[in-house]
Amino acid sequence: MAKNFSEMEDSNRSSNLSIHAVIETSRRTFLRNGAAVSLATVLAPLSGCAVLAGPSNKIGFKPIPVGMGDQLVVPEGYTATPFAPWGDPVGIAGRMPAFKMDGSNSADDQAVQLGMHHDGLEYFPLQGSSRGLLAINHEYTDDGLLHVGGFNPMNPEKVRKAQNAHGLSVIEVEMKNGRWNMVRPSPYARRVTLSTPFRVAGPAAGHALMRTSADPQGLTVLGTLNNCASSKTPWGTYLSGEENFAFYFGAGDKPTQDQQRWGAPKSGFFAWDKHDPRFDLQKNPNEFHRFGWVVELDPMDPNSTPVKRTALGRAAHEGAWVGMTKDGRAVVYSGEDARFEYIYKFVSRDKIKQAGNGLTQAQANKDLLDHGVLYVARFDADGKGQWIPLVHGQGPLTVTNGFADQGEVLIKSRQASDLLGATKMDRPEWLSIDPLSGWVYCTLTNNSQRGIAGKPGVDAANPRVNNVMGQIIRWKDANDFDGRTFEWNLMVLAGDPANERAEAKGNIKGDIYACPDGITFDKQGVLWIQTDAHATQMYKGELSRIGNNQMLACDTATGETRRFLTGPTNCEVTGVTFTPDSTTMFVSIQHPGETPSDRSDPSKPRRYSNWPDYAPNGQPRSALVAIRKLDGGIIGT
Ligand code: FEO
Ligand code: CA
Ligand code: CA
Repeated sequence: MAKNFSEMEDSNRSSNLSIHAVIETSRRTFLRNGAAVSLATVLAPLSGCAVLAGPSNKIGFKPIPVGMGDQLVVPEGYTATPFAPWGDPVGIAGRMPAFKMDGSNSADDQAVQLGMHHDGLEYFPLQGSSRGLLAINHEYTDDGLLHVGGFNPMNPEKVRKAQNAHGLSVIEVEMKNGRWNMVRPSPYARRVTLSTPFRVAGPAAGHALMRTSADPQGLTVLGTLNNCASSKTPWGTYLSGEENFAFYFGAGDKPTQDQQRWGAPKSGFFAWDKHDPRFDLQKNPNEFHRFGWVVELDPMDPNSTPVKRTALGRAAHEGAWVGMTKDGRAVVYSGEDARFEYIYKFVSRDKIKQAGNGLTQAQANKDLLDHGVLYVARFDADGKGQWIPLVHGQGPLTVTNGFADQGEVLIKSRQASDLLGATKMDRPEWLSIDPLSGWVYCTLTNNSQRGIAGKPGVDAANPRVNNVMGQIIRWKDANDFDGRTFEWNLMVLAGDPANERAEAKGNIKGDIYACPDGITFDKQGVLWIQTDAHATQMYKGELSRIGNNQMLACDTATGETRRFLTGPTNCEVTGVTFTPDSTTMFVSIQHPGETPSDRSDPSKPRRYSNWPDYAPNGQPRSALVAIRKLDGGIIGT
């Protein structure tokens, strides 16, 4: 998430192209070619990092240059077709209001249109690799674009529209003649917003800290928000993380110790607290505890009730990813994208069930993630690590220390992890499990406060002060995914190896990038890396040579990294999923043209976007792109 609450300024919109595929051959010369990077440039110690050498035999495309323009670029021999932008109707029969570029769609319109700021997404096949469902997260809103007149002033109707632009979408998609489009209407089409009832499940369901005047039993929460990364479970459901939920609440002048620990601002970032008392913590303190969970949705059943899985702990969850133990239990890895917060894993008590007795596999596993043990990670300097259980009554997690029961341990996972001595990380973002080796990878996107006065210093896993570039850490649990110990190392320090400042030098072997965020292994074992450098940083100093946010392919066996996609101006490239045959890759392009939040300095560049419509007086819109090889082959080869 690149947070920004600035109203969009008018941009210079000169081109007049309809949504189109951008196919660009790699004719441009590289502005910077990192192909001959030496590991001798590494200043930070790499704990147990393998020496990497040799070209990849998994990656076959010709890399593209860094991106500098307002366009989406993919390698020679590929097509990238934008579709499903913010505001298009999802396809609910009889409720398909057209998108209005001037922001004049009503809140009710928005409730049946795709939300803003697409992030994680997953493909669920209906007919193999030619027709399926896409479940999509909508992380946050740019209220400057969303409303006529922008966000100033907000009012209850604008807040309702913003809430309806959050949440999830389920759309049906189909490929005809090599081109993907939405199927509308579709019986599967669905929006999940801040008004959608969620069942609360697991140890914190019904807890006193979860009860509100609107929900005295603490069992039903309206909505989900700030949904960032996604994953698909082995039993066919969609997992989504409620990330920086705290910023939506307003705590007023006297926040409680708990509210301070979770970073609740005095006033909500999006002014919801001023117009919806649910988000005013002085009026509804427990509403705060009802967000920050991993949520699960069965997209194949449009009537299913989504669920908040409290057994996985409350955190600023980027997302959650499932591995399976040898005996068939689920292990769910997650991290929270906040400075100096933690990485978790949950091990289920029960085995994953198969479909049967009239139940789909999703239905057969409807309680699987409600029973098990949550652990937090400690990365030790010797390249080993421990998973420490968050179990009430064990160690410091006692009544004396403020935890009444297991429900409270889970609601206050951060405080529990503080007491357990877990490692404070540099903003854990996505995780992905290498399907071939079982190593688990996690992006640590950056942490500009690491090592500054009054903040935690460096450690082996987070080795750079003022870490503006980020790194990717990986570990292998002992024996199986439920192992209580692990070995770990840093796969890479991001950043240009040629940077002058020691803390910004990277050790990337191949094409350079910064601020890794989305990562996903494909079936071939290629690690796809997506980046999220913020608009205020992207075009200056050490980051200027890296250009627009991008997506790269990494062969983790050789370390080679090749640039595959560059996004339009000021976008974030985030979220990726494949068809089962790996011949289509869907990617989210989020917040193209986002305004740099500091507009007071005229020396700072003003780069905006018209992507993907390129229409006169048009608005930049988050959208998906469907990427295919012209020869119909496997993506990346
Ligand atoms: Fe929503 Fe951590 O990115
Ligand atoms: Ca992210
Ligand atoms: Ca991010």
